Amino acid sequence: MKIFVTMPDGSTKTLEGTVGWQVMEIIKAAGIPIRAECGGACACATCHVYVDPAWLPKLPKAKPEEIDMLDMAMVVKDSSRLSCQVIFTPELDGLKLTIAPDSL
Ligand code: FES
Repeated sequence: MKIFVTMPDGSTKTLEGTVGWQVMEIIKAAGIPIRAECGGACACATCHVYVDPAWLPKLPKAKPEEIDMLDMAMVVKDSSRLSCQVIFTPELDGLKLTIAPDSL
């Protein structure tokens, strides 16, 4: 199962998704230096990513605490999510996202 990641500089990487892991953990395990300063506790917004609009409806809706924390992120878009709040499932095979510049 794959996750297709675009870096802020436009380069792309293909990651192997692990079911049950936070998407942030998968990004980190692939060697991408995402800051994720709170370690996935929804308390920092430094795991900010932009999800490809085609994939947004397939993700679980953001909880109020994620929406609150996204207020702390830079350049928030409609497609913004905190990657630690998205758990990878088989349904997300092929997920496409872009790392937000403030997350590196
Ligand atoms: S790692 Fe801190 S909010 Fe996601």
